[in-house]
Amino acid sequence: MKKIIAFALLINVLLITQTTCRGGASTKNENTPVVWNTLEELVAQMTLAEKVGQMTQAERSNVSAGNITKYALGSVLSGGGSTPLQNSPLGWINMINGFTEASLKTRLGIPVVYGLDAVHGHNNLLNAIILPHNVGLGAIAAGNRERGAEAAYTAGRITAEEMLAAGVRWTFAPVLGVAEDVRWGRTYESYSENVEIVTVMGASAVKGLQENGVAACIKHYLGEGQTTDGRNQGNAVLDRAGIERILPPYKAAIEAGAMSLMPSFSSVNGIKMHEHKELLTDILKNEMGFEGFVISDWAAVEQLSGGGYKTQIANAINAGIDMVMATNGQDKWVSFTSNLQNLVKEGKVPMSRVDDAVIRILRFKQKFGFFDTPIIAKPGEIGSDKNRRDARSLVSDSLVLLRNENNVMTKLPSFKNILVTGQGANDIGMQCGGWTITWQGGTGPITKGTTILEGIRNAVDGKAVISYAADGKTTGNFDAVIAVIGENPYAETEGDRSTGIGFRQRDAEMLKNVYSLKRPVIVIMLSGRPMTIGDEYKNWDAFIAAWLPGTEGGGIADVLFTERDFTGRTPYTWRKSINGEILYPFGFGLRK
Ligand code: GLC
Repeated sequence: MKKIIAFALLINVLLITQTTCRGGASTKNENTPVVWNTLEELVAQMTLAEKVGQMTQAERSNVSAGNITKYALGSVLSGGGSTPLQNSPLGWINMINGFTEASLKTRLGIPVVYGLDAVHGHNNLLNAIILPHNVGLGAIAAGNRERGAEAAYTAGRITAEEMLAAGVRWTFAPVLGVAEDVRWGRTYESYSENVEIVTVMGASAVKGLQENGVAACIKHYLGEGQTTDGRNQGNAVLDRAGIERILPPYKAAIEAGAMSLMPSFSSVNGIKMHEHKELLTDILKNEMGFEGFVISDWAAVEQLSGGGYKTQIANAINAGIDMVMATNGQDKWVSFTSNLQNLVKEGKVPMSRVDDAVIRILRFKQKFGFFDTPIIAKPGEIGSDKNRRDARSLVSDSLVLLRNENNVMTKLPSFKNILVTGQGANDIGMQCGGWTITWQGGTGPITKGTTILEGIRNAVDGKAVISYAADGKTTGNFDAVIAVIGENPYAETEGDRSTGIGFRQRDAEMLKNVYSLKRPVIVIMLSGRPMTIGDEYKNWDAFIAAWLPGTEGGGIADVLFTERDFTGRTPYTWRKSINGEILYPFGFGLRK
């Protein structure tokens, strides 16, 4: 059935693409119609100001509809957690259509494109389905590559459906970084330390998004997972072989149709990626034949060499950046437009470089139907039963059983008196992790979902007594304890750790209380990466890595209390301490 749906959607996308290939005409402004049949003809009629406008992206909070018309801006974005006042599909549609209508009033009527980080569902949208972060999807692939690819596609499809319901048609995803040091705060955004897994998953994610109507933006090119000590935005020392080794995910994603790419904040051999001409132009555009456009990361141009914003802009654009995410205030994107125009007039940025950037941006807008269907008229539905079921199944498939002493996992469904402990057992925010509702995410009931505890209670359905004590302080004759531990939500550098990924104090104390009950302990870990647990596991009868499963926490009980078995495997090497003894090797996982 899925194949037929995909085929129908593909036909639909092709029809959209086909109609946009006829080109367009805008007679909305002045009396001289601007007619064009090819993008080259359109670019040839653009003024320098209009070209530079297309290369400019502003954040929604520091741009107005009037600005978009006046400067002919190419794009607007939401940073993590940046939402319309009414955080509903209707609220998003109204906001985005306001920006789009403003762009259609420009002389050329080139529609603005709205982008955001929908990295595990439309995670800025309240009550949208939040999917497992990539680390969990990578665990599916570590168990079975094909099932992993299907999971990445499904996650992309659900994300696309809930983005379109809110009128958003471009996401800065998937991450194609190959995380090789778990101290990196973005490890959970990567699928795995294994290049083959990242390659298969990234391409499938691109297809899942784009075959269901939204454009992907592959990121963060290149070497973000190879920085010294896993430091976010740090430096990666890579020779040509080292570069070739981590290129396959990008090659496969481009082959799958990705038409936008974001460089990394990090550096390669001391050169910031955002001004790395060899990697951005010589390798990516010339050798690999990337025909899409390169959009900078958040105000990343301001980190470049050169001493001043104008020189930094020249370095970025000449290296191969095509659109700049100029997000540190309205003055930054306004001065970007004036600085770049002056750089062209002064011959410091060739007009040919600007023309190349603009045609890439317009090619993207044409391919994804922005010219033909700039406006999504009305909001759609989110949180459908089917999509929640599909997301829940991904959660089940992502679980990795790392320890199972005395067959406790097969005995669990027969137990009549079970204690559940840990904040994470009753905390949607901990299940979801960063990039959820807000940039950093947060603990507590941050959005609609099913907690692990609710899932357990529903699964046993009165056949067992389920007690809950967040801190583990209780008494009773329990058959077993299910103790949920984990990390607090974080994103990017906030998640960087230097010496280890240890227990939260409240989890360590909870475990001590649980051990004093002297009953079998089944530990479930909610984390973006392998935590460094030393020998603590020896106190546990069973140990399950649940990663960051998202809102559908019921998927955990679906494996604990039914015949469904564990199929996930760890997508990362699991060490007792940073660079220490391996506890569980990459690809390890047990069945019940
Ligand atoms: C962030 C991230 C990038 C994201 C961008 C826009 O700093 O590095 O992944 O797409 O800004 O939110």
